[in-house]
Amino acid sequence: MEHNSIMRRRSVRKFEDRPVEQEKLEHLLRAAMQSPTAKDSRCWEFLVITDRAACEAISKMSEYAMCAAKAPAMVITMVNLHNTDPDTLWWVEDLSAATQTILIQAEEEGLGAVWLGMYPREERTSQLQAYFQLPEHIMPFAVIPLGYKQKEKPFEDRFDPAKVHWDTF
Ligand SMILES: Cc1cc2nc3c(=O)[nH]c(=O)nc-3n(C[C@H](O)[C@H](O)[C@H](O)COP(=O)(O)O)c2cc1C
Repeated sequence: MEHNSIMRRRSVRKFEDRPVEQEKLEHLLRAAMQSPTAKDSRCWEFLVITDRAACEAISKMSEYAMCAAKAPAMVITMVNLHNTDPDTLWWVEDLSAATQTILIQAEEEGLGAVWLGMYPREERTSQLQAYFQLPEHIMPFAVIPLGYKQKEKPFEDRFDPAKVHWDTF
């Protein structure tokens, strides 16, 4: 099987000290908005961050977010709760799909990225809401630091036939 961007994608947490071109950032967002959503709600919003102070601040919002401090850019995937039924929680899947699409498109663009989980940790999402003064109907979902990779990670074959069940479990 071809090692396309889906197969090659790995979490990248160390980036070169150079900016990401605006055009590439736009490609990530274009790709994200091609993702599937329940009832075609497209309930997403994307906050693109290149501000150093904001990256520093975000790196302190979770004990697993240190890598955000030196990222040249990041995308915060968020849900607009006015555009979905908040009670069904389909939006969690919608935002997961969009977040994964950004990771794959980053690989496609020659960039590296990592998914930093924010939702459903209230102590993380509340810090993002406060820092960016988000309205109540905007819930941050994940933070994606991204940039040019300091080094490539090797391909890891994770295919496990024992996890696949043909016709019966
Ligand atoms: C929902 C979710 C939350 C994650 N949160 C973090 C995080 O807070 N910090 C981090 O460094 N990596 C985080 N990751 C990345 C995982 O650690 C990573 O995907 C996993 O170790 C597999 O490695 P790979 O992405 O290189 O294939 C998260 C991934 C997912 C899907």
